[in-house]
Amino acid sequence: ASKVEVDLRNIPLGQIAMIDWQGNPVFVFHRNESQIAEAVRDDELNLRHKETDAERRLGSEEWLVVLGICTHLGCIPVTLKGDYGAFFCPCHGSHYDTAGRIRLGPAPLNLEVPKHRFVDDDTLIIG
Ligand code: FES
Repeated sequence: ASKVEVDLRNIPLGQIAMIDWQGNPVFVFHRNESQIAEAVRDDELNLRHKETDAERRLGSEEWLVVLGICTHLGCIPVTLKGDYGAFFCPCHGSHYDTAGRIRLGPAPLNLEVPKHRFVDDDTLIIG
């Protein structure tokens, strides 16, 4: 299917689920208060790929949805790892923050935000 429905009740606070979307990994991050605060706090920094946390979200602050494909050479990052406790690509050491923004390492761009929408508080559609 070109779209996939995700039951958000299955993703505990502070955790990241990996969803298969047309053969691509998508990370759905249920951010807790400190993870949100870290993302918003760094909005004003001179980031490599400057985007605010709000610009990267389509729903409430709790939910971040990003493609799990490193923007360097396409490896799948590991989650809740790295210097920012969010996404770390072990292939060449790229660290992404709790908004999925590139912060350290060779990747040039933030993790991509795929097309998605929130149907209600518990339901996300990717695609
Ligand atoms: Fe991720 Fe190179 S592919 S750092």
